[in-house]
Amino acid sequence: MPALVDRFGRVHDYLRISVTDRCNLRCLYCMPEEGMEFTESENLMSYDQIVEVVEAGAALGITKLRITGGEPLIRPGLDGLISRLSAIHGIQDIALTTNGIFLAKQAEALRTAGLNRVNISLDTLDSSRFRFIARRGELKRVMEGIEAAAAVGFDPIKLNCVLLKEVNEDEIADFLKLAYEQPMHVRFIEYMPIGHADENWKKHYLPLSRVLEVAEKEGYAISRRTNVHGNGPSDDWQMEGARGSFGLIHPISDHFCSNCNRLRLTADGSIKPCLYWVDELNIKDAFGKPDEMKRLLLRAMDIKPENHEMAAKLADGAQTHVPTERRMSQIGG
Ligand code: GTP
Ligand code: 5AD
Ligand code: SF4
Repeated sequence: MPALVDRFGRVHDYLRISVTDRCNLRCLYCMPEEGMEFTESENLMSYDQIVEVVEAGAALGITKLRITGGEPLIRPGLDGLISRLSAIHGIQDIALTTNGIFLAKQAEALRTAGLNRVNISLDTLDSSRFRFIARRGELKRVMEGIEAAAAVGFDPIKLNCVLLKEVNEDEIADFLKLAYEQPMHVRFIEYMPIGHADENWKKHYLPLSRVLEVAEKEGYAISRRTNVHGNGPSDDWQMEGARGSFGLIHPISDHFCSNCNRLRLTADGSIKPCLYWVDELNIKDAFGKPDEMKRLLLRAMDIKPENHEMAAKLADGAQTHVPTERRMSQIGG
């Protein structure tokens, strides 16, 4: 019998772990260019503490992990953490979400440590536009990271593209072509208002129905794909004759909360049952007390809301509860 079942009958077997809220980039949909305050390193969960949470989670039915940030690869010794997590009884799938800049250097060590999969952010194929969206860093480094990930055998490799109206919507056809020609799974993602829902969000939000329109216009014969290895909310599609495929993550135009299977652990030691709302449980007092840790994970099931209300926000509708003020980089997506 699964233990982590919420009030709506949803079974939870997936834990997203943020190992740092820091990042070497400043993507415009994620953080402001200046003025972010980061968790001091002494207030980050230690790797020992992360292992404790995962041991408690695994005893309650967590089998899938995702390491996120901020940018997880800026935290030293991540391969060591992954190798410890992969040894925990019950853990079957460990994946990483990264901006790719430091991946080329670490891909081999991560693979050897037991990492199963990588998802890499790639919002544009144009280097000057990369600089506009990410505000720092170089597209070339990300491309080298993607190549290194393929070379060491990660499979599938997923490329996360947050679509922004008037910024990169003109690249949908190029990304579809990439997925047609290369064995990559490109995921288009709707821009979400997490901790920063201002006019900028409404200006750049683009519903993903646009991707299907472009696929049709480009003449691809598309159909649903159901066998992409993944634990998240992506709605996957294939193009006849393609080497790769694509996915749509559309929390706003068509939310997927009824299938939610995940909990989040923030880098500063809180369990977040939902990406969108303010509710969280601080677990710092439970370190060294496995039964208390399990009690808190089970408690997260009692306070987990039924769904987010991003669509209501787009329509300027009232919110039934309080949205989080944490930014995406402080939650880990
Ligand atoms: P797979 O296991 O490969 O399917 O990964 P994933 O899609 O769960 O993870 P990833 O970190 O690549 O996330 C892709 C996008 O999905 C990011 O923009 C996340 O913020 C978003 N996402 C993941 N889980 C949720 C969720 O529960 N709610 C919402 N609204 N977005 C989510
Ligand atoms: N809306 C949608 N996706 C986002 N990400 C970061 N911020 C947002 C946002 N506001 C994505 C990143 C990364 C993943 C963890 O979340 O591009 O791929
Ligand atoms: Fe960094 Fe990822 Fe946020 Fe971009 S989306 S600033 S890469 S954490």
